[in-house]
Amino acid sequence: MIHTNMKKKFSCCIVAFLLFAVICVWKERKKGSYYDSLKLQTKEFQVLKTLGKLTMGSHSQSVSSDNTQDPQKNSQALSGPKGSTKSNPQPSFQVWNKESSSKNLIPRLQKILKNYLNMNKYKVSYKGPGPGVKYSADALRCYLRDRVNVSMVEATDFPFNTSDWEGYLPKENIRTKAGPWHKCAVVSSAGSLKSSQLGQEIDGHDAVLRFNGAPTANFQQDVGTKTTIRLMNSQLVTTEKRFLKDGLYNEGILIVWDPSIYHSDIPKWYKNPDYNFFNNYKSYRKMHPGQPFYILRPQMPWELWDVLQEISPEEIQPNPPSSGMLGILIMLTLCDQVDIYEFLPSKRKTDVCYYYQKFFDSACTMGAYHPLLFEKNMVKHLNEGPDEDIYLLGKATLPGFRNIHC
Ligand SMILES: *[C@@H]1O[C@H](CO)[C@@H](O)[C@H](O)[C@H]1NC(C)=O
Ligand SMILES: *[C@@H]1O[C@H](CO)[C@@H](O)[C@H](O)[C@H]1NC(C)=O
Repeated sequence: MIHTNMKKKFSCCIVAFLLFAVICVWKERKKGSYYDSLKLQTKEFQVLKTLGKLTMGSHSQSVSSDNTQDPQKNSQALSGPKGSTKSNPQPSFQVWNKESSSKNLIPRLQKILKNYLNMNKYKVSYKGPGPGVKYSADALRCYLRDRVNVSMVEATDFPFNTSDWEGYLPKENIRTKAGPWHKCAVVSSAGSLKSSQLGQEIDGHDAVLRFNGAPTANFQQDVGTKTTIRLMNSQLVTTEKRFLKDGLYNEGILIVWDPSIYHSDIPKWYKNPDYNFFNNYKSYRKMHPGQPFYILRPQMPWELWDVLQEISPEEIQPNPPSSGMLGILIMLTLCDQVDIYEFLPSKRKTDVCYYYQKFFDSACTMGAYHPLLFEKNMVKHLNEGPDEDIYLLGKATLPGFRNIHC
Protein backbone atom coordinates (compact mmCIF):
# COMPACT_ATOMS: atom_id res chain seq x y z
CA MET A 1 0.00 0.00 0.00
CA ILE A 2 2.73 2.35 0.93
CA HIS A 3 4.46 1.38 -2.25
CA THR A 4 1.49 2.24 -4.50
CA ASN A 5 0.96 5.48 -2.61
CA MET A 6 4.51 6.51 -3.35
CA LYS A 7 4.01 5.59 -6.98
CA LYS A 8 0.87 7.70 -7.13
CA LYS A 9 2.61 10.67 -5.57
CA PHE A 10 5.52 10.29 -7.91
CA SER A 11 3.34 10.24 -11.01
CA CYS A 12 1.42 13.24 -9.72
CA CYS A 13 4.70 15.13 -9.48
CA ILE A 14 5.66 14.11 -12.99
CA VAL A 15 2.29 15.20 -14.37
CA ALA A 16 2.49 18.53 -12.56
CA PHE A 17 6.00 19.09 -13.85
CA LEU A 18 5.03 18.24 -17.41
CA LEU A 19 2.06 20.54 -17.19
CA PHE A 20 4.30 23.33 -15.93
CA ALA A 21 6.80 22.73 -18.71
CA VAL A 22 4.11 22.72 -21.37
CA ILE A 23 2.70 26.01 -20.10
CA CYS A 24 6.15 27.59 -20.10
CA VAL A 25 6.91 26.51 -23.63
CA TRP A 26 3.48 27.65 -24.81
CA LYS A 27 3.94 31.05 -23.22
CA GLU A 28 7.35 31.51 -24.81
CA ARG A 29 6.02 30.58 -28.22
CA LYS A 30 3.11 32.93 -27.84
CA LYS A 31 5.45 35.76 -26.99
CA GLY A 32 7.56 35.01 -30.03
CA SER A 33 4.68 34.83 -32.41
CA TYR A 34 3.27 38.03 -30.95
CA TYR A 35 6.42 39.93 -31.75
CA ASP A 36 6.67 38.29 -35.13
CA SER A 37 3.15 39.26 -36.01
CA LEU A 38 3.79 42.76 -34.78
CA LYS A 39 6.70 43.02 -37.16
CA LEU A 40 4.58 41.60 -39.93
CA GLN A 41 1.85 44.02 -39.17
CA THR A 42 4.10 47.03 -39.38
CA LYS A 43 5.69 45.74 -42.53
CA GLU A 44 2.80 44.42 -44.51
CA PHE A 45 -0.51 45.27 -42.98
CA GLN A 46 0.52 48.75 -41.98
CA VAL A 47 -1.38 48.83 -38.77
CA LEU A 48 -1.00 52.34 -37.56
CA LYS A 49 -1.32 52.10 -33.86
CA THR A 50 -1.72 55.74 -33.16
CA LEU A 51 -3.14 58.17 -35.57
CA GLY A 52 -2.55 61.72 -34.68
CA LYS A 53 1.02 62.09 -33.73
CA LEU A 54 0.76 65.72 -34.31
CA THR A 55 2.20 67.50 -31.41
CA MET A 56 2.22 71.00 -32.58
CA GLY A 57 0.90 73.47 -30.14
CA SER A 58 -0.99 71.44 -27.68
CA HIS A 59 -1.98 73.85 -24.99
CA SER A 60 -1.88 72.60 -21.46
CA GLN A 61 -5.61 72.09 -21.48
CA SER A 62 -5.09 69.04 -23.60
CA VAL A 63 -2.25 67.55 -21.64
CA SER A 64 -4.30 66.53 -18.67
CA SER A 65 -7.26 65.24 -20.52
CA ASP A 66 -5.85 63.40 -23.45
CA ASN A 67 -4.14 60.35 -22.16
CA THR A 68 -5.72 57.38 -23.77
CA GLN A 69 -5.23 55.71 -27.02
CA ASP A 70 -6.46 52.43 -28.22
CA PRO A 71 -4.57 50.99 -31.14
CA GLN A 72 -7.40 48.89 -32.39
CA LYS A 73 -9.98 51.61 -32.24
CA ASN A 74 -7.64 54.10 -33.79
CA SER A 75 -6.86 51.87 -36.68
CA GLN A 76 -10.53 51.81 -37.52
CA ALA A 77 -10.20 55.35 -38.62
CA LEU A 78 -7.81 54.29 -41.30
CA SER A 79 -8.98 53.46 -44.73
CA GLY A 80 -7.58 51.45 -47.53
CA PRO A 81 -8.19 48.04 -48.97
CA LYS A 82 -8.19 45.35 -46.35
CA GLY A 83 -7.04 41.76 -46.50
CA SER A 84 -4.58 40.20 -48.85
CA THR A 85 -2.75 42.28 -51.36
CA LYS A 86 -0.90 39.33 -52.81
CA SER A 87 -2.89 39.16 -56.00
CA ASN A 88 -2.60 42.90 -56.43
CA PRO A 89 0.52 44.05 -58.29
CA GLN A 90 0.02 47.61 -56.99
CA PRO A 91 0.97 47.98 -53.37
CA SER A 92 -1.81 49.49 -51.32
CA PHE A 93 -1.16 51.97 -48.59
CA GLN A 94 -3.40 52.22 -45.63
CA VAL A 95 -3.55 55.88 -44.69
CA TRP A 96 -5.78 58.41 -42.97
CA ASN A 97 -9.45 58.12 -43.87
CA LYS A 98 -10.83 61.57 -44.62
CA GLU A 99 -14.26 60.48 -43.42
CA SER A 100 -13.02 59.74 -39.90
CA SER A 101 -15.56 60.66 -37.26
CA SER A 102 -15.68 60.91 -33.50
CA LYS A 103 -17.17 57.43 -33.55
CA ASN A 104 -13.63 56.26 -34.33
CA LEU A 105 -12.52 57.63 -30.99
CA ILE A 106 -12.43 55.45 -27.93
CA PRO A 107 -15.32 56.12 -25.52
CA ARG A 108 -13.12 58.08 -23.19
CA LEU A 109 -12.06 60.54 -25.90
CA GLN A 110 -15.66 60.79 -27.06
CA LYS A 111 -16.58 61.79 -23.55
CA ILE A 112 -13.83 64.42 -23.46
CA LEU A 113 -15.11 65.86 -26.71
CA LYS A 114 -18.61 66.06 -25.19
CA ASN A 115 -17.15 67.76 -22.12
CA TYR A 116 -15.45 70.38 -24.29
CA LEU A 117 -18.70 70.93 -26.13
CA ASN A 118 -20.48 71.52 -22.84
CA MET A 119 -17.70 73.65 -21.40
CA ASN A 120 -17.45 75.89 -24.47
CA LYS A 121 -14.60 77.83 -22.94
CA TYR A 122 -14.30 80.27 -25.85
CA LYS A 123 -18.05 80.98 -26.07
CA VAL A 124 -18.36 79.64 -29.58
CA SER A 125 -21.71 80.39 -31.17
CA TYR A 126 -21.38 79.08 -34.70
CA LYS A 127 -24.16 80.33 -36.97
CA GLY A 128 -22.70 79.45 -40.35
CA PRO A 129 -23.71 76.77 -42.84
CA GLY A 130 -23.32 73.08 -42.22
CA PRO A 131 -22.48 70.87 -40.56
CA GLY A 132 -21.31 68.54 -43.26
CA VAL A 133 -21.24 70.85 -46.29
CA LYS A 134 -19.37 69.08 -49.07
CA TYR A 135 -16.82 70.93 -51.16
CA SER A 136 -14.61 69.54 -53.88
CA ALA A 137 -10.93 69.92 -53.03
CA ASP A 138 -10.63 72.79 -55.54
CA ALA A 139 -13.66 74.59 -54.16
CA LEU A 140 -12.47 74.13 -50.59
CA ARG A 141 -9.07 75.62 -51.43
CA CYS A 142 -10.72 78.72 -52.86
CA TYR A 143 -13.11 78.90 -49.92
CA LEU A 144 -10.27 78.74 -47.41
CA ARG A 145 -8.31 81.37 -49.30
CA ASP A 146 -11.23 83.77 -49.21
CA ARG A 147 -12.55 83.03 -45.73
CA VAL A 148 -9.36 82.81 -43.67
CA ASN A 149 -7.52 86.09 -43.43
CA VAL A 150 -3.92 85.21 -42.65
CA SER A 151 -2.51 88.45 -41.31
CA MET A 152 -0.71 89.82 -38.31
CA VAL A 153 -1.51 92.39 -35.65
CA GLU A 154 -0.32 95.76 -36.90
CA ALA A 155 1.04 98.84 -35.17
CA THR A 156 -2.08 100.75 -36.20
CA ASP A 157 -4.42 98.30 -34.42
CA PHE A 158 -5.72 99.61 -31.10
CA PRO A 159 -4.28 99.18 -28.43
CA PHE A 160 -1.01 98.45 -30.22
CA ASN A 161 -1.04 102.02 -31.51
CA THR A 162 -0.65 103.42 -27.98
CA SER A 163 2.57 104.61 -26.37
CA ASP A 164 2.85 101.32 -24.39
CA TRP A 165 3.54 99.56 -27.61
CA GLU A 166 5.52 102.13 -29.52
CA GLY A 167 8.33 100.49 -31.47
CA TYR A 168 7.56 96.93 -30.44
CA LEU A 169 5.70 95.49 -33.42
CA PRO A 170 7.67 94.92 -36.63
CA LYS A 171 7.31 97.87 -38.99
CA GLU A 172 7.15 95.84 -42.16
CA ASN A 173 4.21 93.73 -43.21
CA ILE A 174 5.00 90.01 -43.01
CA ARG A 175 4.54 89.72 -46.77
CA THR A 176 7.64 91.83 -47.31
CA LYS A 177 9.66 89.42 -45.11
CA ALA A 178 8.08 86.07 -45.93
CA GLY A 179 7.74 84.69 -49.42
CA PRO A 180 6.43 84.38 -51.92
CA TRP A 181 8.08 80.98 -52.11
CA HIS A 182 7.75 78.10 -54.51
CA LYS A 183 8.10 74.95 -52.40
CA CYS A 184 7.55 75.05 -48.65
CA ALA A 185 7.69 72.48 -45.88
CA VAL A 186 5.66 72.31 -42.70
CA VAL A 187 7.41 70.06 -40.20
CA SER A 188 5.39 68.71 -37.31
CA SER A 189 7.01 67.76 -34.03
CA ALA A 190 5.69 64.22 -34.13
CA GLY A 191 7.68 61.42 -32.55
CA SER A 192 7.34 59.53 -35.81
CA LEU A 193 9.80 61.92 -37.45
CA LYS A 194 12.49 60.11 -35.51
CA SER A 195 14.58 57.90 -37.82
CA SER A 196 12.69 59.25 -40.82
CA GLN A 197 15.85 60.42 -42.62
CA LEU A 198 13.79 63.24 -44.11
CA GLY A 199 16.28 65.99 -43.26
CA GLN A 200 17.71 66.46 -46.72
CA GLU A 201 14.33 66.40 -48.38
CA ILE A 202 12.99 68.99 -45.92
CA ASP A 203 16.00 71.27 -46.38
CA GLY A 204 15.41 71.11 -50.13
CA HIS A 205 12.41 73.42 -49.72
CA ASP A 206 12.60 77.18 -50.18
CA ALA A 207 11.10 77.75 -46.74
CA VAL A 208 10.53 75.56 -43.70
CA LEU A 209 8.00 76.17 -40.94
CA ARG A 210 8.48 74.60 -37.50
CA PHE A 211 6.55 74.74 -34.27
CA ASN A 212 7.13 75.87 -30.72
CA GLY A 213 10.42 74.58 -29.27
CA ALA A 214 11.12 71.97 -31.95
CA PRO A 215 14.93 71.81 -32.38
CA THR A 216 17.01 70.96 -35.42
CA ALA A 217 20.39 70.51 -33.70
CA ASN A 218 21.08 66.81 -33.16
CA PHE A 219 18.09 65.91 -35.34
CA GLN A 220 19.29 67.21 -38.73
CA GLN A 221 19.13 63.77 -40.32
CA ASP A 222 15.45 63.49 -39.61
CA VAL A 223 14.09 67.05 -39.64
CA GLY A 224 16.68 69.12 -41.51
CA THR A 225 18.47 72.29 -40.46
CA LYS A 226 16.53 75.13 -42.04
CA THR A 227 13.98 77.18 -40.09
CA THR A 228 12.35 80.01 -42.00
CA ILE A 229 9.29 80.51 -39.80
CA ARG A 230 8.68 79.34 -36.24
CA LEU A 231 5.06 79.38 -35.09
CA MET A 232 4.68 79.38 -31.32
CA ASN A 233 1.72 79.30 -29.01
CA SER A 234 1.35 81.97 -26.36
CA GLN A 235 1.76 79.41 -23.62
CA LEU A 236 5.36 78.81 -24.65
CA VAL A 237 6.16 82.51 -24.88
CA THR A 238 4.58 83.10 -21.48
CA THR A 239 5.80 80.15 -19.45
CA GLU A 240 8.88 78.66 -21.13
CA LYS A 241 11.85 79.92 -19.13
CA ARG A 242 14.27 79.23 -21.96
CA PHE A 243 12.31 81.32 -24.42
CA LEU A 244 14.32 84.46 -23.74
CA LYS A 245 17.64 82.60 -23.53
CA ASP A 246 17.69 79.71 -25.97
CA GLY A 247 19.36 80.43 -29.31
CA LEU A 248 16.83 78.08 -30.87
CA TYR A 249 14.41 80.97 -31.21
CA ASN A 250 16.87 83.39 -32.77
CA GLU A 251 16.57 82.00 -36.30
CA GLY A 252 13.97 82.89 -38.87
CA ILE A 253 10.68 84.73 -38.55
CA LEU A 254 8.77 84.23 -35.31
CA ILE A 255 4.99 84.21 -35.07
CA VAL A 256 3.06 83.84 -31.82
CA TRP A 257 -0.65 83.10 -31.58
CA ASP A 258 -3.05 83.18 -28.67
CA PRO A 259 -6.61 81.84 -28.50
CA SER A 260 -9.24 84.53 -28.08
CA ILE A 261 -12.89 84.28 -27.17
CA TYR A 262 -14.75 83.27 -30.37
CA HIS A 263 -14.49 86.08 -32.94
CA SER A 264 -13.23 88.66 -30.44
CA ASP A 265 -11.76 91.73 -32.02
CA ILE A 266 -8.25 92.81 -31.07
CA PRO A 267 -9.17 95.23 -28.22
CA LYS A 268 -11.46 92.67 -26.57
CA TRP A 269 -8.90 89.91 -26.91
CA TYR A 270 -6.14 92.15 -25.57
CA LYS A 271 -8.06 92.58 -22.31
CA ASN A 272 -8.56 88.85 -21.93
CA PRO A 273 -5.85 86.79 -23.64
CA ASP A 274 -5.61 83.05 -23.00
CA TYR A 275 -1.99 83.56 -21.92
CA ASN A 276 -0.67 87.01 -21.16
CA PHE A 277 2.44 86.77 -23.30
CA PHE A 278 2.77 90.49 -23.97
CA ASN A 279 5.52 91.26 -21.45
CA ASN A 280 7.70 88.41 -22.64
CA TYR A 281 7.04 89.43 -26.23
CA LYS A 282 8.28 92.92 -25.45
CA SER A 283 11.34 91.59 -23.61
CA TYR A 284 12.24 89.39 -26.57
CA ARG A 285 11.77 92.28 -29.00
CA LYS A 286 14.12 94.45 -26.95
CA MET A 287 16.76 91.75 -27.01
CA HIS A 288 16.33 90.92 -30.71
CA PRO A 289 14.98 94.01 -32.44
CA GLY A 290 16.28 92.89 -35.82
CA GLN A 291 14.40 89.59 -35.91
CA PRO A 292 10.91 89.70 -37.38
CA PHE A 293 8.45 88.61 -34.69
CA TYR A 294 4.74 88.83 -35.43
CA ILE A 295 1.54 88.33 -33.50
CA LEU A 296 -1.10 86.43 -35.44
CA ARG A 297 -4.42 88.26 -35.64
CA PRO A 298 -6.62 86.52 -33.07
CA GLN A 299 -9.52 86.33 -35.51
CA MET A 300 -7.64 84.05 -37.90
CA PRO A 301 -7.86 80.77 -35.91
CA TRP A 302 -11.63 81.16 -35.56
CA GLU A 303 -12.07 81.96 -39.25
CA LEU A 304 -10.34 78.67 -39.93
CA TRP A 305 -12.36 76.90 -37.24
CA ASP A 306 -15.60 78.05 -38.90
CA VAL A 307 -14.61 76.32 -42.13
CA LEU A 308 -13.63 73.16 -40.25
CA GLN A 309 -17.01 73.13 -38.52
CA GLU A 310 -18.88 73.79 -41.73
CA ILE A 311 -17.37 70.86 -43.60
CA SER A 312 -17.40 68.39 -40.69
CA PRO A 313 -20.58 66.31 -40.42
CA GLU A 314 -20.75 66.62 -36.64
CA GLU A 315 -20.00 69.13 -33.89
CA ILE A 316 -16.26 69.63 -33.51
CA GLN A 317 -14.41 70.73 -30.38
CA PRO A 318 -15.23 74.41 -29.76
CA ASN A 319 -11.52 75.08 -29.23
CA PRO A 320 -9.10 76.72 -31.64
CA PRO A 321 -7.39 74.66 -34.34
CA SER A 322 -3.96 73.21 -33.58
CA SER A 323 -0.79 75.17 -34.26
CA GLY A 324 -0.18 72.55 -36.93
CA MET A 325 -3.28 73.50 -38.85
CA LEU A 326 -2.55 77.21 -38.41
CA GLY A 327 0.99 76.72 -39.73
CA ILE A 328 -0.36 74.90 -42.77
CA LEU A 329 -2.71 77.78 -43.55
CA ILE A 330 0.10 80.32 -43.14
CA MET A 331 2.29 78.44 -45.62
CA LEU A 332 -0.58 77.91 -48.05
CA THR A 333 -0.88 81.68 -48.34
CA LEU A 334 2.86 82.19 -48.88
CA CYS A 335 3.81 79.30 -51.16
CA ASP A 336 2.98 77.63 -54.47
CA GLN A 337 3.23 74.18 -52.93
CA VAL A 338 3.28 73.00 -49.33
CA ASP A 339 4.69 69.65 -48.23
CA ILE A 340 3.45 68.72 -44.78
CA TYR A 341 5.42 66.16 -42.78
CA GLU A 342 3.82 63.82 -40.24
CA PHE A 343 0.53 65.61 -39.93
CA LEU A 344 -1.14 62.66 -41.55
CA PRO A 345 0.58 59.77 -39.81
CA SER A 346 3.02 57.53 -41.67
CA LYS A 347 3.97 53.92 -41.09
CA ARG A 348 6.47 55.19 -38.52
CA LYS A 349 3.78 55.66 -35.93
CA THR A 350 5.16 55.64 -32.44
CA ASP A 351 3.99 56.22 -28.92
CA VAL A 352 6.67 58.84 -28.44
CA CYS A 353 5.02 62.19 -28.69
CA TYR A 354 7.78 64.53 -29.82
CA TYR A 355 10.81 63.58 -31.86
CA TYR A 356 12.98 65.55 -29.45
CA GLN A 357 11.66 64.40 -26.11
CA LYS A 358 11.71 60.95 -24.66
CA PHE A 359 8.34 60.84 -23.06
CA PHE A 360 4.90 59.76 -23.91
CA ASP A 361 2.68 62.80 -23.85
CA SER A 362 -0.75 61.61 -24.68
CA ALA A 363 -1.90 65.10 -25.61
CA CYS A 364 -0.83 64.27 -29.12
CA THR A 365 -3.18 61.48 -30.06
CA MET A 366 -6.44 62.07 -31.78
CA GLY A 367 -6.76 65.55 -30.38
CA ALA A 368 -8.94 65.89 -27.34
CA TYR A 369 -8.47 69.63 -27.03
CA HIS A 370 -7.87 70.66 -30.63
CA PRO A 371 -10.23 69.41 -33.34
CA LEU A 372 -7.31 67.44 -34.77
CA LEU A 373 -9.36 64.62 -36.21
CA PHE A 374 -11.32 67.04 -38.37
CA GLU A 375 -8.20 68.96 -39.35
CA LYS A 376 -6.66 65.75 -40.62
CA ASN A 377 -9.80 64.93 -42.57
CA MET A 378 -9.51 68.31 -44.27
CA VAL A 379 -5.80 67.96 -45.05
CA LYS A 380 -6.42 64.49 -46.50
CA HIS A 381 -9.20 65.94 -48.65
CA LEU A 382 -6.90 68.70 -49.92
CA ASN A 383 -3.92 66.40 -50.43
CA GLU A 384 -2.77 65.96 -54.01
CA GLY A 385 0.14 63.64 -53.29
CA PRO A 386 -0.11 59.85 -53.50
CA ASP A 387 -1.09 57.74 -50.51
CA GLU A 388 2.34 56.17 -50.84
CA ASP A 389 3.92 59.47 -49.76
CA ILE A 390 1.72 59.61 -46.69
CA TYR A 391 2.43 56.02 -45.78
CA LEU A 392 6.17 56.00 -46.40
CA LEU A 393 7.16 59.60 -45.69
CA GLY A 394 4.28 61.02 -43.68
CA LYS A 395 4.08 63.60 -46.46
CA ALA A 396 0.96 65.36 -47.72
CA THR A 397 1.30 67.80 -50.62
CA LEU A 398 -1.10 70.71 -50.94
CA PRO A 399 -1.15 73.33 -53.69
CA GLY A 400 -0.73 76.80 -52.24
CA PHE A 401 -3.29 79.55 -52.69
CA ARG A 402 -1.04 81.73 -54.81
CA ASN A 403 -1.54 79.87 -58.03
CA ILE A 404 -5.06 78.53 -57.81
CA HIS A 405 -7.81 79.66 -60.10
CA CYS A 406 -11.10 80.30 -58.39
C1 LIG B 1 -7.50 90.94 -43.40
O1 LIG B 1 -6.94 91.60 -42.30
C2 LIG B 1 -6.25 92.78 -42.60
C3 LIG B 1 -5.61 93.29 -41.34
O2 LIG B 1 -6.53 93.46 -40.33
C4 LIG B 1 -7.23 93.77 -43.22
O3 LIG B 1 -6.54 94.95 -43.56
C5 LIG B 1 -7.88 93.15 -44.43
O4 LIG B 1 -8.84 93.99 -44.95
C6 LIG B 1 -8.49 91.81 -44.11
N1 LIG B 1 -8.93 91.18 -45.32
C7 LIG B 1 -10.09 90.53 -45.41
C8 LIG B 1 -10.38 89.88 -46.72
O5 LIG B 1 -10.88 90.47 -44.50
C1 LIG C 1 -5.48 104.02 -32.01
O1 LIG C 1 -6.51 103.44 -32.76
C2 LIG C 1 -7.82 103.80 -32.33
C3 LIG C 1 -8.80 102.96 -33.10
O2 LIG C 1 -8.52 102.98 -34.47
C4 LIG C 1 -8.01 105.30 -32.51
O3 LIG C 1 -9.31 105.68 -32.12
C5 LIG C 1 -6.96 106.03 -31.69
O4 LIG C 1 -7.06 107.41 -31.91
C6 LIG C 1 -5.57 105.54 -32.03
N1 LIG C 1 -4.64 106.08 -31.10
C7 LIG C 1 -3.51 106.68 -31.46
C8 LIG C 1 -2.64 107.17 -30.37
O5 LIG C 1 -3.24 106.85 -32.64
